[in-house]
Amino acid sequence: MRTQVLIIGGGPSGLLLSQLLAKKGIDTVVLERKTRDYVLGRIRAGILETGFVELMRQAGVAERMDKECFVHDGTVIANGNTQFRIDFTEHTGTPVVVYGQTELTRDLYDAREAAGGKIIFEVGNVRIHDATTAYPYVTYEKDGRELTIHADYIAGCDGFHGVSRQSIPVDVRREYEKIYPFGWLGILSETPPVHHELIYSSSDRGFSLCSMRNDHLSRYYIQCSLSDSPNDWSDQLFWDELKRRIPEDYASKLETGPSIEKSIAPLRSFVTEPMRWGRLFLCGDAAHIVPPTGAKGLNTAASDIHYLYHGLVSEILDGDLEGIDRYSERALARIWKAERFSWWMTNLLHRFPDQSDFDVKMQSAELAFLQGNVQAQSTMAQNYVGLPY
Ligand code: APR
Ligand code: PHB
Repeated sequence: MRTQVLIIGGGPSGLLLSQLLAKKGIDTVVLERKTRDYVLGRIRAGILETGFVELMRQAGVAERMDKECFVHDGTVIANGNTQFRIDFTEHTGTPVVVYGQTELTRDLYDAREAAGGKIIFEVGNVRIHDATTAYPYVTYEKDGRELTIHADYIAGCDGFHGVSRQSIPVDVRREYEKIYPFGWLGILSETPPVHHELIYSSSDRGFSLCSMRNDHLSRYYIQCSLSDSPNDWSDQLFWDELKRRIPEDYASKLETGPSIEKSIAPLRSFVTEPMRWGRLFLCGDAAHIVPPTGAKGLNTAASDIHYLYHGLVSEILDGDLEGIDRYSERALARIWKAERFSWWMTNLLHRFPDQSDFDVKMQSAELAFLQGNVQAQSTMAQNYVGLPY
């Protein structure tokens, strides 16, 4: 088999790239290790920058999102019982959009299937060959047979644990990593959100976040120890702890109920450089991870796809190499700024195990400065809604 762009990974990055390229008449094949249902069973974040929303529109998959999403003009930041709001739209002219990654991925799958796009599920042992030549190809196993696909370009959209990044020789890539000494315990519950906007909350007992998917579905997180397991946290323990970490006026009106999902995610910052090796291009989680505090995971994947999509279209349709030659440099320039923002928010709002009283005072002083300073709020808002592509 042969295709113009072989995409490894059928998560949001791979599907969005495939859908955008299809709109330009460029042929792709997507190889996905799991089943569609498995991919759609993952609960992930759901805050979209407007740049991402625009890409979804360009890809022709924004209809349901435009109908069902929630537009958020700001967010609440709390420190103990003190709280203030940062107005994104006032500072930047742009809100953010709340639409779950699961729904967005479902829309992308539906659109690819409706257009007859080729997605091969449950592939094993994917291997990339001759990436630094003009004739790269990929081998994989499906139903006990080994198969080969030749391609002009390969997009590595296979997440943090994928094969694409690992295919780049260790002496070519440089990895940067920071592991945080805590995790996030998250629950999904069929209860109305405690507030119509997100609440990012710092407290003596640790960080918490009140988020949502819609009017009847809430997503809450509390900072937890890395040695905790979800089984250590009954729903009752979770709700009691959350109430202790958010301002009293929210705690008193929080509606609780049984959790329909409960999991713990570790927090990590990670970047690999470069994001290109010959004809292989890394996108999304395959190249970088951010801690979830700034809601940048999905959004950084989207900006990679924006740069790669434009680069591939210019090369394939017009023979112009500039976009793909500068892909890694452009994508990384934006990624590092999103890494910095996510790291800053994480450091500002969490309790660290080795933190001194002085360190806690520094966090409080920074939060007080943010509360009282218009320029600091504007800086936060610009980063949160997303820096320009
Ligand atoms: N072969 C084929 N598919 C693979 C392989 C492999 N060797 N390894 C992983 N995959 C698939 C995974 O099963 C998954 O469906 O690649 C997909 C990668 O999807 P994600 O991990 O969701 O990564 P990405 O598409 O880059 O999405 C952006 O950023 O912060 C996150 O929550 C955010 O998941 C979102 C991500
Ligand atoms: C979520 O709703 O899951 C969510 C929202 C904002 C974040 C992280 C996660 O910063």
